[in-house]
Amino acid sequence: MLDIALPKGRLGDRVYGMLKQAGYECPAIEQPDRRLIFENPETSVRYFWVKPSDVTIYVERGAADIGIAGKDILLENRPELYELLDLKTGICRMAVAGPKDFVEPKERTLRVATKFPYIAGNFYAARSRDVELIKLNGSIELAPILGLSDVIVDIVETGKTLKENGLTVLETVCPISARLVANPSSFRFKAEEINTLVRKLAEQLEQD
Ligand code: PRP
Repeated sequence: MLDIALPKGRLGDRVYGMLKQAGYECPAIEQPDRRLIFENPETSVRYFWVKPSDVTIYVERGAADIGIAGKDILLENRPELYELLDLKTGICRMAVAGPKDFVEPKERTLRVATKFPYIAGNFYAARSRDVELIKLNGSIELAPILGLSDVIVDIVETGKTLKENGLTVLETVCPISARLVANPSSFRFKAEEINTLVRKLAEQLEQD
């Protein structure tokens, strides 16, 4: 049995669709109910719906053998797990954004609001720029509007949230997409099952 942590939400639904097509179907998960665990003994899989930012915790601690996590979470939290495959979905980018007429105040510390202080800190450290990191948990776009920060470092997908709040991308930090990750000891003890799953998903990605 392979234990798979799926991120609850649109990305998880999409990835389950890919797994189903690859032969890892689990009809129970397609029922509209509030259960969080689903098993299919025929395909030897057990799926869990997990909050997206918690997937790496389940996989790192071995509660799940494999899971699907955004590259943003992997870069930010640096969990001890193996990144096996870029699923080429959940594609977006990490970017610095700010007001359209933003002029960088070169003479002082830049105030940066973000959900991703490690990624943002690294980005500015690489260019020796002094920053004050302000860690927020959501609605990051509010920070520069209310004067809490000069800029933000955040995920941009369609750019709609920025646009509707009068902000714009100033610089791209890095591209982001969903990755298949594995617990290192599961990868050793269930090598055959995990490698087969990776191969089937990779073949499917090539066909798309
Ligand atoms: C994310 C991100 C942006 C938005 C970007 O927010 O933090 O706010 O999506 O998407 P867009 O470019 O397509 O508009 P999320 O929905 O996760 O909410 P939160 O960070 O405010 O909690």
